This record gives sequence, C-alpha cells and structure tokens, in this order.
Amino acid sequence: MKSHLELSRLTKTYEGPSGPAVIVKDFDLVVERGEFVTIIGHSGCGKSTVLSMAAGLTEPTSGGIVLAGKEVIGPGPDRGVVFQSPCLLPWMTALENVLLGVGQVLPGSSRKEKLRVAEEQLVLVGLGTALHKRPAELSQGMRQRVGIARAFALSPKLLLLDEPFGMLDSLTRCELQEVLLGLWRKDRKTALMVTHDVDEALFLSDRIVLMTSGPAARVGDILEVPFPRPRDRRAVMEHPEYYTKRERLIEFLEEQGPERRRAAPTHARPEPWVAESEADGSRDDALLAATVASIPSPVEKSP
Ligand SMILES: Nc1ncnc2c1ncn2[C@@H]1O[C@H](COP(=O)(O)OP(=O)(O)OP(=O)(O)O)[C@@H](O)[C@H]1O
Ligand SMILES: [Mg+2]
Repeated sequence: MKSHLELSRLTKTYEGPSGPAVIVKDFDLVVERGEFVTIIGHSGCGKSTVLSMAAGLTEPTSGGIVLAGKEVIGPGPDRGVVFQSPCLLPWMTALENVLLGVGQVLPGSSRKEKLRVAEEQLVLVGLGTALHKRPAELSQGMRQRVGIARAFALSPKLLLLDEPFGMLDSLTRCELQEVLLGLWRKDRKTALMVTHDVDEALFLSDRIVLMTSGPAARVGDILEVPFPRPRDRRAVMEHPEYYTKRERLIEFLEEQGPERRRAAPTHARPEPWVAESEADGSRDDALLAATVASIPSPVEKSP
C-alpha cells in the first residue's frame, strides 16, 4: 500500500464576533491507498470541517492536503462526497441524478456508456427497480443509496462520507453499511468517513481516528482495527478484540466529554434552522449514552 491522502498540519480558524475561533489545529493524518478510515469525536469538535477541507469545500486557514500527489485546491470529481442527506435534484430520476456526475468524469464517452455506468452503480446499491423514480418517490434509505451510487459512479480517488447513515433507522443503517462495504470491497476506494457510531466505525474501518474535542481539535489517537476482511457482522462482534477496541473508543469519548466541550468556542452560533437538541450535541450525547449503556460488564462478557 502507498500513501494516498495526506492532511498536514491542517488548521481552520473562523472569525466570530468575539474574535477568531480555532476549530481545528495541526490535524495530521496519512491515509494509505485502499484504506477505510473513520473519524470519530464529539459533536461540534470539527469532524465535518476536516472532511469539508478534504473535499475542497472549505479552505484551510493553514496546512495542506495532498491527494494522489496533487495538492487539493477546491472541489473536484476526483472526490466522491456523501453527506447525511444526499442532495438529489428533485426533478430528476435516480438514474439522471447519478448520470449528472458520470457526465463530469466521462465527458468523451457516449450517452450509452454513461447510462451503463450509472445504471450499474444503481443496481449494485439495490435500486435496479427504482432507476426511473424521482427522489420524492424514494424512501430516505433509497435516496441515500442513490447518493452512494453517485459517489462510486465517479470512480473517485477518494470517498468522503460525512455521517452518511446518521438520519436512518438502525435496520436501514445496518443494510447500508453492508451495501457500502460491498461496493468498497470491489475496487477498494480509499475512504475517509465521519461517524458517531462506535460499532459502525469498528465494522467498517481499517483505522479509527479519535478526534479531541475543541477548541483547536486534533488527532488524539488512532486505533487499528484488526478484524479480517471480508467482514461479517457477527464474526466481527465475536472477535476476541472487539470489546477491548470498543471500550477504548468509549473511554476516549468519555475523556473528551462535556467538561472539555464546555470550553469550546461559543460565538459560532448554530444555524437557526438546526433543532436545539441537535445543535447542542444532545442527539450525539444520547447516542453515546446508549452506546455506553449497551457495553456488557466484564462478567457478562466471559463465557
Ligand atoms: N462556517 C462557519 N462559521 C463559523 N463557525 C463554524 C462554521 N462551520 C462550523 N463552525 C464551527 O466549527 C465547529 C465545528 O463544526 P463541525 O461542523 O466541523 O463539527 P462536527 O464535529 O462535524 O459536529 P457534528 O458531529 O455535530 O456534525 C463548531 O463549533 C461550529 O459551530
Ligand atoms: Mg458534522
């Protein structure tokens, strides 16, 4: 494997009414070609900020990003991005939405070839019978499948996924994790994904980046995930190291808990349309609390 993505001393400062707020500082990460890396950390620590800089949607204040030997300056079709909501054009069908991206990366190809690529990806995500449906006719899970198909159809050098399953119920979430792993396995696209879900991180990743809470968030630790691939959910959960890894993740998140976050910059107000429970991170605290509560005690773990 070869170094593919390098984030070097990545720093982002926002100007606010009470002065500059350093959100991310000296964030260093090297991702190998074909690796699946997730970033986990408390709400508001700056995970999306890092991903957005890698996507070229947010300009770093200092530091740099190199992808496949080229500095990242601005967005480009060499990066397939999947957000929590897939931002589909409502007047276009699933196929047309995916085709839009394919047109960007295969400008010289015939329409037939572009259609073949778009259709193939939609079939792979399980939407072979919904090619001609518009977003309004699709469930949230199906829309997210379109978003994933669109990202893979670009055949990108890097996949960037920001909590792609955050809005889904747990059953759909598990299904889509399998869909994502299936696609990823096919050609091992280098992937950088943000999640709040420790089990999701353990199921999908080769390494998990534990991000400190802000201000000036950085890489706090990196956890190697040793489970063999291809992965089966049950086999992963029964792996002798599963609970040790899971407990390390929880321990880190607890260490970086509310006291630290109270020190975070307060001037950067959430957007007014963000529900208060989400804006203050309580949705994620609830997820974390549920995760902590679901860890069996050492007694329960022993056979
Ligand atoms: N455009 C902006 N202007 C000012 N502050 C911003 C801007 N974007 C993000 N921030 C601030 O940067 C910090 C990190 O935000 P970011 O969205 O990266 O967090 P996050 O870790 O992705 O959180 P979550 O888990 O809730 O999605 C927050 O304090 C946020 O208010
Ligand atoms: Mg975020």
